[in-house]
Amino acid sequence: MSRLFTFLLAMLCFELALAAGGHGPAMQPVKIDLSDKLSLQRGAQVFVNYCVSCHSASFMRYNRIAADLDLSEESVQTNLMFTTDKIGDAMEVAMRPSDAESWFGAPPPDLSVVARSRGPDWLYNFLITFYVDENKPTGVNNLFFKDTAMPHVLWELQGLQRAVYHTEAADDGNETTTIERLELAQRGSLTENEYKRLVRDLVGFLVYVGEPAKLVRHRLGFWVIVFLLVFLVAAYLMKREYWKDVH
Ligand code: HEC
Repeated sequence: MSRLFTFLLAMLCFELALAAGGHGPAMQPVKIDLSDKLSLQRGAQVFVNYCVSCHSASFMRYNRIAADLDLSEESVQTNLMFTTDKIGDAMEVAMRPSDAESWFGAPPPDLSVVARSRGPDWLYNFLITFYVDENKPTGVNNLFFKDTAMPHVLWELQGLQRAVYHTEAADDGNETTTIERLELAQRGSLTENEYKRLVRDLVGFLVYVGEPAKLVRHRLGFWVIVFLLVFLVAAYLMKREYWKDVH
Protein backbone atom coordinates (compact mmCIF):
# COMPACT_ATOMS: atom_id res chain seq x y z
CA MET A 1 0.00 0.00 0.00
CA SER A 2 2.63 2.48 1.07
CA ARG A 3 4.72 1.50 -1.92
CA LEU A 4 1.82 2.34 -4.21
CA PHE A 5 1.46 5.65 -2.43
CA THR A 6 5.15 6.49 -2.89
CA PHE A 7 4.87 5.55 -6.53
CA LEU A 8 1.87 7.84 -7.05
CA LEU A 9 3.63 10.66 -5.25
CA ALA A 10 6.69 10.22 -7.43
CA MET A 11 4.49 10.31 -10.55
CA LEU A 12 2.83 13.48 -9.34
CA CYS A 13 6.18 15.21 -8.71
CA PHE A 14 7.33 14.13 -12.16
CA GLU A 15 4.20 15.62 -13.76
CA LEU A 16 4.61 18.87 -11.86
CA ALA A 17 8.26 19.10 -12.90
CA LEU A 18 7.22 18.57 -16.52
CA ALA A 19 4.54 21.23 -16.30
CA ALA A 20 6.93 23.71 -14.71
CA GLY A 21 9.67 22.96 -17.24
CA GLY A 22 7.52 23.97 -20.24
CA HIS A 23 8.31 27.33 -21.79
CA GLY A 24 5.81 30.08 -22.29
CA PRO A 25 2.14 30.31 -21.38
CA ALA A 26 0.24 27.07 -20.87
CA MET A 27 -2.29 25.77 -23.35
CA GLN A 28 -5.85 26.82 -22.60
CA PRO A 29 -8.48 24.09 -22.90
CA VAL A 30 -11.45 24.71 -25.19
CA LYS A 31 -14.96 23.38 -24.70
CA ILE A 32 -16.66 22.25 -27.91
CA ASP A 33 -20.39 21.59 -28.02
CA LEU A 34 -21.32 19.72 -31.21
CA SER A 35 -25.02 19.91 -30.39
CA ASP A 36 -24.86 23.71 -30.73
CA LYS A 37 -25.85 24.00 -34.40
CA LEU A 38 -25.74 27.80 -34.40
CA SER A 39 -22.14 27.72 -33.23
CA LEU A 40 -21.23 25.22 -35.99
CA GLN A 41 -23.01 27.40 -38.56
CA ARG A 42 -21.03 30.45 -37.46
CA GLY A 43 -17.84 28.36 -37.58
CA ALA A 44 -18.63 27.27 -41.15
CA GLN A 45 -19.08 30.91 -42.14
CA VAL A 46 -15.69 31.91 -40.68
CA PHE A 47 -14.02 28.91 -42.31
CA VAL A 48 -15.38 29.81 -45.74
CA ASN A 49 -14.58 33.52 -45.38
CA TYR A 50 -11.08 33.22 -43.97
CA CYS A 51 -9.62 29.76 -44.61
CA VAL A 52 -10.82 28.21 -47.87
CA SER A 53 -8.81 30.70 -49.92
CA CYS A 54 -5.74 28.69 -48.90
CA HIS A 55 -6.93 25.44 -47.30
CA SER A 56 -9.26 22.79 -48.63
CA ALA A 57 -11.43 20.44 -46.60
CA SER A 58 -11.90 17.99 -49.40
CA PHE A 59 -13.58 15.27 -47.34
CA MET A 60 -16.50 17.61 -46.78
CA ARG A 61 -19.25 18.36 -49.30
CA TYR A 62 -21.48 21.41 -49.17
CA ASN A 63 -24.73 19.45 -49.30
CA ARG A 64 -23.60 17.36 -46.32
CA ILE A 65 -23.03 20.59 -44.36
CA ALA A 66 -26.53 21.72 -45.30
CA ALA A 67 -28.06 18.46 -44.05
CA ASP A 68 -25.98 18.18 -40.87
CA LEU A 69 -26.19 21.79 -39.72
CA ASP A 70 -29.92 22.25 -40.40
CA LEU A 71 -29.35 24.70 -43.25
CA SER A 72 -31.30 24.84 -46.50
CA GLU A 73 -29.30 24.17 -49.65
CA GLU A 74 -30.19 27.68 -50.87
CA SER A 75 -28.76 29.23 -47.73
CA VAL A 76 -25.55 27.21 -48.08
CA GLN A 77 -25.34 28.22 -51.73
CA THR A 78 -25.68 31.94 -51.03
CA ASN A 79 -23.72 32.14 -47.78
CA LEU A 80 -21.03 29.49 -47.87
CA MET A 81 -20.20 28.77 -51.49
CA PHE A 82 -18.38 30.45 -54.32
CA THR A 83 -20.70 30.93 -57.27
CA THR A 84 -18.70 28.48 -59.39
CA ASP A 85 -19.16 25.59 -56.93
CA LYS A 86 -22.02 23.12 -57.08
CA ILE A 87 -23.88 21.95 -53.98
CA GLY A 88 -22.48 18.41 -54.30
CA ASP A 89 -18.87 19.67 -54.54
CA ALA A 90 -16.22 19.14 -51.91
CA MET A 91 -14.68 22.16 -50.12
CA GLU A 92 -11.80 22.67 -52.50
CA VAL A 93 -9.35 25.50 -52.48
CA ALA A 94 -9.23 28.25 -55.10
CA MET A 95 -5.44 28.30 -55.29
CA ARG A 96 -3.17 25.78 -57.00
CA PRO A 97 -1.06 23.89 -54.42
CA SER A 98 2.14 24.59 -56.34
CA ASP A 99 1.45 28.36 -56.22
CA ALA A 100 0.71 28.16 -52.53
CA GLU A 101 3.97 26.37 -51.89
CA SER A 102 6.01 28.97 -53.73
CA TRP A 103 4.21 31.85 -51.99
CA PHE A 104 4.41 30.56 -48.45
CA GLY A 105 7.31 28.15 -48.55
CA ALA A 106 5.02 25.47 -47.16
CA PRO A 107 1.78 24.26 -48.73
CA PRO A 108 -1.34 24.99 -46.64
CA PRO A 109 -2.47 21.43 -45.71
CA ASP A 110 -5.98 20.08 -46.22
CA LEU A 111 -7.90 20.64 -42.98
CA SER A 112 -10.42 17.78 -43.24
CA VAL A 113 -8.97 15.80 -40.35
CA VAL A 114 -6.75 18.38 -38.67
CA ALA A 115 -8.96 18.38 -35.56
CA ARG A 116 -8.14 14.72 -35.14
CA SER A 117 -4.41 15.01 -35.78
CA ARG A 118 -3.82 18.15 -33.72
CA GLY A 119 -6.77 18.09 -31.33
CA PRO A 120 -9.24 20.93 -30.61
CA ASP A 121 -7.16 22.44 -27.80
CA TRP A 122 -4.12 22.83 -30.03
CA LEU A 123 -6.20 24.40 -32.85
CA TYR A 124 -7.78 26.86 -30.45
CA ASN A 125 -4.46 27.89 -28.93
CA PHE A 126 -2.78 28.09 -32.35
CA LEU A 127 -5.45 30.50 -33.59
CA ILE A 128 -5.33 32.80 -30.55
CA THR A 129 -1.54 33.04 -30.08
CA PHE A 130 -0.16 34.75 -33.17
CA TYR A 131 2.15 37.57 -32.15
CA VAL A 132 4.18 40.21 -33.96
CA ASP A 133 7.67 39.06 -34.95
CA GLU A 134 9.42 41.36 -37.41
CA ASN A 135 12.01 38.71 -38.29
CA LYS A 136 9.39 36.57 -40.01
CA PRO A 137 8.31 37.05 -43.63
CA THR A 138 4.66 37.06 -42.53
CA GLY A 139 5.38 39.58 -39.74
CA VAL A 140 4.06 37.16 -37.11
CA ASN A 141 5.08 34.12 -35.15
CA ASN A 142 3.03 31.68 -33.08
CA LEU A 143 3.35 30.31 -29.55
CA PHE A 144 2.22 26.79 -30.41
CA PHE A 145 3.52 26.52 -34.00
CA LYS A 146 6.93 28.17 -33.89
CA ASP A 147 8.00 29.83 -37.16
CA THR A 148 4.81 28.80 -38.94
CA ALA A 149 4.48 29.82 -42.58
CA MET A 150 0.84 30.73 -42.03
CA PRO A 151 0.08 34.45 -41.80
CA HIS A 152 -2.27 35.70 -39.06
CA VAL A 153 -5.31 35.78 -41.32
CA LEU A 154 -7.69 36.84 -38.53
CA TRP A 155 -5.61 39.82 -37.36
CA GLU A 156 -8.23 42.39 -38.33
CA LEU A 157 -10.63 40.70 -35.93
CA GLN A 158 -8.24 39.92 -33.08
CA GLY A 159 -5.85 42.82 -33.46
CA LEU A 160 -2.11 42.33 -33.07
CA GLN A 161 -0.46 40.87 -29.99
CA ARG A 162 3.06 41.45 -28.79
CA ALA A 163 5.15 39.10 -26.68
CA VAL A 164 6.20 40.04 -23.16
CA TYR A 165 9.53 38.37 -22.38
CA HIS A 166 10.90 37.04 -19.14
CA THR A 167 14.64 36.61 -18.60
CA GLU A 168 15.99 34.22 -16.02
CA ALA A 169 19.60 33.72 -15.00
CA ALA A 170 20.57 30.13 -14.31
CA ASP A 171 23.17 29.13 -11.67
CA ASP A 172 25.90 28.95 -14.31
CA GLY A 173 25.26 32.56 -15.31
CA ASN A 174 23.54 31.71 -18.58
CA GLU A 175 20.41 33.67 -19.25
CA THR A 176 17.34 32.19 -20.85
CA THR A 177 14.61 34.33 -22.26
CA THR A 178 11.12 32.92 -22.58
CA ILE A 179 7.79 34.42 -23.52
CA GLU A 180 5.80 35.07 -20.39
CA ARG A 181 2.54 36.13 -21.99
CA LEU A 182 1.05 37.97 -24.95
CA GLU A 183 -0.58 41.36 -24.72
CA LEU A 184 -2.68 43.31 -27.19
CA ALA A 185 -0.61 45.92 -29.01
CA GLN A 186 -3.21 46.99 -31.55
CA ARG A 187 -6.94 46.54 -31.15
CA GLY A 188 -8.94 44.53 -33.65
CA SER A 189 -12.62 44.87 -34.52
CA LEU A 190 -13.62 42.29 -31.90
CA THR A 191 -13.11 42.25 -28.14
CA GLU A 192 -11.01 39.47 -26.64
CA ASN A 193 -14.08 37.47 -25.62
CA GLU A 194 -15.79 37.92 -28.97
CA TYR A 195 -12.65 36.75 -30.74
CA LYS A 196 -12.32 33.71 -28.51
CA ARG A 197 -15.93 32.80 -29.15
CA LEU A 198 -15.37 33.09 -32.91
CA VAL A 199 -12.33 30.81 -32.69
CA ARG A 200 -14.30 28.35 -30.56
CA ASP A 201 -17.03 28.28 -33.25
CA LEU A 202 -14.39 27.74 -35.93
CA VAL A 203 -12.66 24.92 -34.02
CA GLY A 204 -16.08 23.34 -33.38
CA PHE A 205 -16.71 23.35 -37.11
CA LEU A 206 -13.31 21.72 -37.74
CA VAL A 207 -14.06 19.04 -35.15
CA TYR A 208 -17.36 18.37 -36.94
CA VAL A 209 -15.62 18.26 -40.35
CA GLY A 210 -13.06 15.80 -38.95
CA GLU A 211 -15.77 13.37 -37.90
CA PRO A 212 -19.24 14.26 -39.22
CA ALA A 213 -20.63 10.95 -37.94
CA LYS A 214 -20.21 12.30 -34.40
CA LEU A 215 -23.36 14.38 -34.86
CA VAL A 216 -25.33 11.31 -35.89
CA ARG A 217 -23.89 9.35 -32.98
CA HIS A 218 -24.95 12.02 -30.49
CA ARG A 219 -28.50 12.04 -31.90
CA LEU A 220 -28.65 8.26 -31.94
CA GLY A 221 -27.25 7.99 -28.41
CA PHE A 222 -30.12 10.06 -27.07
CA TRP A 223 -32.76 7.76 -28.56
CA VAL A 224 -30.91 4.64 -27.41
CA ILE A 225 -31.10 5.94 -23.82
CA VAL A 226 -34.79 6.80 -24.22
CA PHE A 227 -35.45 3.29 -25.53
CA LEU A 228 -33.57 1.71 -22.63
CA LEU A 229 -35.56 3.74 -20.10
CA VAL A 230 -38.90 2.82 -21.68
CA PHE A 231 -37.78 -0.81 -21.86
CA LEU A 232 -36.78 -0.72 -18.19
CA VAL A 233 -40.27 0.38 -17.16
CA ALA A 234 -41.87 -2.27 -19.38
CA ALA A 235 -39.59 -4.97 -18.00
CA TYR A 236 -40.38 -3.95 -14.44
CA LEU A 237 -44.14 -4.02 -15.02
CA MET A 238 -43.84 -7.39 -16.70
CA LYS A 239 -41.84 -8.80 -13.82
CA ARG A 240 -44.46 -7.63 -11.36
CA GLU A 241 -47.18 -9.25 -13.43
CA TYR A 242 -45.35 -12.59 -13.74
CA TRP A 243 -44.40 -12.88 -10.07
CA LYS A 244 -47.77 -11.75 -8.73
CA ASP A 245 -49.14 -15.31 -8.36
CA VAL A 246 -45.90 -16.79 -7.06
CA HIS A 247 -45.78 -14.78 -3.85
C1 HEC B 1 -2.92 32.96 -46.83
C2 HEC B 1 -3.06 31.53 -46.80
C3 HEC B 1 -3.67 30.92 -45.57
C4 HEC B 1 -4.92 31.18 -45.02
C5 HEC B 1 -5.95 32.17 -45.53
C6 HEC B 1 -5.07 30.30 -43.90
N1 HEC B 1 -3.95 29.51 -43.74
FE1 HEC B 1 -3.70 28.03 -42.38
N2 HEC B 1 -1.84 27.64 -43.15
C7 HEC B 1 -1.27 28.30 -44.21
C8 HEC B 1 0.03 27.73 -44.46
C9 HEC B 1 1.02 28.19 -45.54
C10 HEC B 1 0.22 26.70 -43.49
C11 HEC B 1 1.44 25.80 -43.34
C12 HEC B 1 2.22 26.33 -42.18
C13 HEC B 1 3.52 25.61 -41.95
O1 HEC B 1 3.63 24.42 -42.28
O2 HEC B 1 4.43 26.27 -41.40
C14 HEC B 1 -0.99 26.68 -42.68
C15 HEC B 1 -1.19 25.80 -41.61
C16 HEC B 1 -2.35 25.72 -40.88
C17 HEC B 1 -2.59 24.78 -39.80
C18 HEC B 1 -1.62 23.76 -39.27
C19 HEC B 1 -1.89 22.44 -39.90
C20 HEC B 1 -0.94 21.41 -39.38
O3 HEC B 1 -1.41 20.43 -38.81
O4 HEC B 1 0.27 21.59 -39.54
C21 HEC B 1 -3.87 24.99 -39.35
C22 HEC B 1 -4.59 24.26 -38.24
C23 HEC B 1 -4.41 26.08 -40.13
N3 HEC B 1 -3.47 26.48 -41.05
C24 HEC B 1 -5.67 26.59 -39.95
C25 HEC B 1 -6.19 27.67 -40.66
C26 HEC B 1 -7.50 28.23 -40.41
C27 HEC B 1 -8.49 27.72 -39.37
C28 HEC B 1 -7.64 29.27 -41.27
C29 HEC B 1 -8.81 30.22 -41.37
C30 HEC B 1 -9.03 31.04 -40.21
C31 HEC B 1 -6.42 29.35 -42.08
N4 HEC B 1 -5.58 28.35 -41.68
C32 HEC B 1 -6.20 30.26 -43.10
C33 HEC B 1 -1.82 29.31 -44.95
C34 HEC B 1 -3.07 29.86 -44.76
